[in-house]
Amino acid sequence: MIDTRMDAFSPLRWRDDHLQLLDQTVLPHTETWLECRTPELVADAIRRLSVRGAPAIGVSAAFGLVVGMTGADDEDCAARFDDTWQLLAGTRPTAVNLRWALELGREVYERHRAEGAAAVRTALLAWAQELHAADIESNRRLGDYGAELFEAGNRVLTHCNAGALATGGYGTAIGVIQSSWAAGRLAMVWVDETRPLLQGARLTTWELERAAIPYRLVTDNSVGSLMSRGLVDRVVVGADRIAANGDTANKIGTYTIAVLADRHDVPFYVAAPLSTIDRQSATGAAIPIEERAGEEVTHVFGVDVAPEGAPAANFAFDVTPAELITAIITDVGVLKPPLAQSITQAFDTPSTSIPV
Ligand code: MRU
Repeated sequence: MIDTRMDAFSPLRWRDDHLQLLDQTVLPHTETWLECRTPELVADAIRRLSVRGAPAIGVSAAFGLVVGMTGADDEDCAARFDDTWQLLAGTRPTAVNLRWALELGREVYERHRAEGAAAVRTALLAWAQELHAADIESNRRLGDYGAELFEAGNRVLTHCNAGALATGGYGTAIGVIQSSWAAGRLAMVWVDETRPLLQGARLTTWELERAAIPYRLVTDNSVGSLMSRGLVDRVVVGADRIAANGDTANKIGTYTIAVLADRHDVPFYVAAPLSTIDRQSATGAAIPIEERAGEEVTHVFGVDVAPEGAPAANFAFDVTPAELITAIITDVGVLKPPLAQSITQAFDTPSTSIPV
């Protein structure tokens, strides 16, 4: 039975010698934990979106490195680590937390490789567990910073799922929503269904039900109408990768919402930990955008809704330019425009505790 206190909930857990992931492809109606005992299973779970959301992908990959070292001996230690690293790195291109976690994992490996395979695995496990705990802590801090931007009675719109399911726990955009609700600054949440894979309809609703936060599910194409009728006071979304200038890649459809928010003077907030900021991407143009199978568009839960063989384009993410973002809510505080400058300052402030 899953712990029903949302703040204690995480979509991933380490059990004895393997990683367990809550299979998000079958939520909300079925709660199944996948047992990942090989790196291939972890990689497959990430590719299939059994685990998804940038921070959750990063933490899962950290545990994936541990899984990859299980049973390794001193002779094949280096090859096993490199093969696992490459396998996981190739799963999803946009969420930068994946690469971020893998690079931290490589530092742990380099520090312990001389001690042999068993020592490497022990060190990686301790680090992955710390990374998981640190992610939850970051989200709690971020949630509380975000709640300061809300006022009693606010109706907030969110897109996709940036909740506990998308992170180590607590959530980013939904972390802000949870903290605002707890502070008495939220009336209700508009939940975009988020085509094609319906993360809003299936996952965000599931989380809000469990947290007993009032919401209404809407089709993605309702946003303009809701805003023009004055029914949205705030937008808060997550991020898969934020460039050095503040341009933000997030689930396809986010950019459309940002344009509408600008048109209707609705504050548009991005909520993400510093681990989602990629200072090596100067602008959004440098962010790789994942393109997924056309079947995700032509089929809904296995049912063909388009003529057979209809060509489809399925870009999983879009980029919202920094100029449309009111602020980025991070684990070290709220970053306001000019975002390029406030991002630089945030990294210069030694206030985070990222385990390496
Ligand atoms: O394709 P997904 O479901 O992994 O996309 C997830 C999102 O776009 C989230 O908004 C983002 O990763 C932030 S999760 C805290």
